[in-house]
Amino acid sequence: MNDTNGRSDDVQLLTLHVNGTQHEVITEPRRTLVDVLRHDLRLTGAHVGCEHGICGACTVLVDGLPARACLMFAAQAEGAAITTVESLADPDTGELNDLQRAFTEHHALQCGFCTPGFLMLAQGFLARQPEADREEIKEIVASNLCRCTGYQSIVEAIDSCARTRRAQRAAGTEGTPPCN
Ligand code: FES
Ligand code: FES
Repeated sequence: MNDTNGRSDDVQLLTLHVNGTQHEVITEPRRTLVDVLRHDLRLTGAHVGCEHGICGACTVLVDGLPARACLMFAAQAEGAAITTVESLADPDTGELNDLQRAFTEHHALQCGFCTPGFLMLAQGFLARQPEADREEIKEIVASNLCRCTGYQSIVEAIDSCARTRRAQRAAGTEGTPPCN
């Protein structure tokens, strides 16, 4: 049923866990996760490109796995740990994390529209497959679209970050120097 303004009164209270914080949102069941993140929680890092699950600009992590936030209803994400690109930089200083620094150092972005999606795709991928080689990285980045960079620099950034993280783990100095 709609009210006199055309709004549906079929709304529900959702509890979403985003970047370690619990949020309560009153919304219609039909709304997507990316719309709720952007418009209700003001987390605008996840971009909306195709809205059909093709481009990957809306990629976030849901329980650690990359997911197209345009293809999920926000209600489906209740109870899950949602991680957005806003979580990557240091919340106090704004300092970029190692993966973000690798993207800047390897010029892995031009217009930047696709970048949050690639960052979250890579973040989730490297967490599950820290030993991934260049061929596996090429395969995973093929799931998102970038119309600017030609992908070479994106692969280079992710690969260099993966290699640096491996070297840091081997040396017992995880998280100290930047990827380069
Ligand atoms: S906006 Fe979600 S895949 Fe394109
Ligand atoms: S940097 Fe422009 S779409 Fe990827």
